[in-house]
Amino acid sequence: MAGTTSAVRLVSPFARLNDRLAGIPPGRPPILLGLGEPQHAIPDFVGPTIAAHLSEFGQYPAIRGTDAFRRTIADWLGHRYSLVHAIDPERMVLPLNGSREGLFFAALGARERTRRIERPIVLLPNPFYQAYAAGAEAAGAEIVLVEPDGERTLPDLATLGEDILARTVAIYVASPSNPQGSVATLGEWKRLIGTARQYDIMILADECYSEIYRTAPPPGVLEAADSLGDGYGNVLTFHSLSKRSNLPGLRCGFAAGDPGFIAGWTRLRNMAAPQVPGPLQAVAVAAYSDESHVAANRALYNEKFALAEAILGDRLGGGVPQGGFFLWLPVPDGEAAAVRLWQEGGVRTIPGGYLCLPDSEGHNPGVGYLRIAMVQDLDVTREALTRMADIFDRS
Ligand SMILES: Cc1ncc(COP(=O)(O)O)c(C=O)c1O
Repeated sequence: MAGTTSAVRLVSPFARLNDRLAGIPPGRPPILLGLGEPQHAIPDFVGPTIAAHLSEFGQYPAIRGTDAFRRTIADWLGHRYSLVHAIDPERMVLPLNGSREGLFFAALGARERTRRIERPIVLLPNPFYQAYAAGAEAAGAEIVLVEPDGERTLPDLATLGEDILARTVAIYVASPSNPQGSVATLGEWKRLIGTARQYDIMILADECYSEIYRTAPPPGVLEAADSLGDGYGNVLTFHSLSKRSNLPGLRCGFAAGDPGFIAGWTRLRNMAAPQVPGPLQAVAVAAYSDESHVAANRALYNEKFALAEAILGDRLGGGVPQGGFFLWLPVPDGEAAAVRLWQEGGVRTIPGGYLCLPDSEGHNPGVGYLRIAMVQDLDVTREALTRMADIFDRS
């Protein structure tokens, strides 16, 4: 289940795909399902809110964000996860310039917090979002890949050796996961928190897809910590407006959780991290105060997943995912399939192997998959899925 990886050369999967497809013209007018960039409409309140706060572009924003931002996030978390123990907006919330930079910087914060460990380890899922590995590398940590067993979404840390756990400073996990779209149960979260606390490991929980789900809202890491009733230590959640509110270009998200971690991390971020401009924080206040645009967004994704079920059927290899907006399609060879879909159908997708590192036995768990980002509108998605089914049927 665990594999150490050394001398990693990180390459963006998108840059790798550009290289692989260079010189290959698309067989049909292109449809882009590679990048996870939502193409749904942006909410109506964005423009007027920025206009109302325009003068704030004339000031450097504070790294801790505005009072209104932190209060809104603390309230939203309280409602979303029915928290009994309130999130303290003063000590437990920070705005992020998109969750990507926060996920990257968090590894540096975790490293800083545990200076006594000489050869730190950061645990990563596999496949994983590239910022996790970039953060671990920048923190000078050894990367150890941990995969959950069977149907689980989160790994069971208790199965790792003492030698690994004693050196681990942080673990990155995602629920809903990207690309599989699986969702961690409350029990899985609680178990992870229990072991992480035993070894003083920071859980960096990427929950940026938390609002995009098929039927039931995914339980969250803060919800699990709340129900354990021992505070929010060792837990940090990451959320983003990119997916929830179709605002990938706004660059706004937040981190919330462990007040001790946030205190030290804020000192570091205050010297090096990008702040979030005031008018954009005001948009976030509006966005997190409204669920109607989020529900409409979710409904549109669900319509598209129903289309995928109808058009791709058994090819989905076990139905649509519980959360997120990707299909993780089993295929004989992900790279060959991506090239063929582009060359014959103009459909751009990502080979699953590009999102993984080889494990300790040299096996890349993503090679037999294709990631399809369901980010286009309904008609374009129908067209893309139909082209894909036609091409697969010809093989
Ligand atoms: C799993 C995951 N985490 C984090 C991010 C970062 O999103 P953003 O920086 O836009 O919040 C992405 C973006 O695609 C993602 O897929």
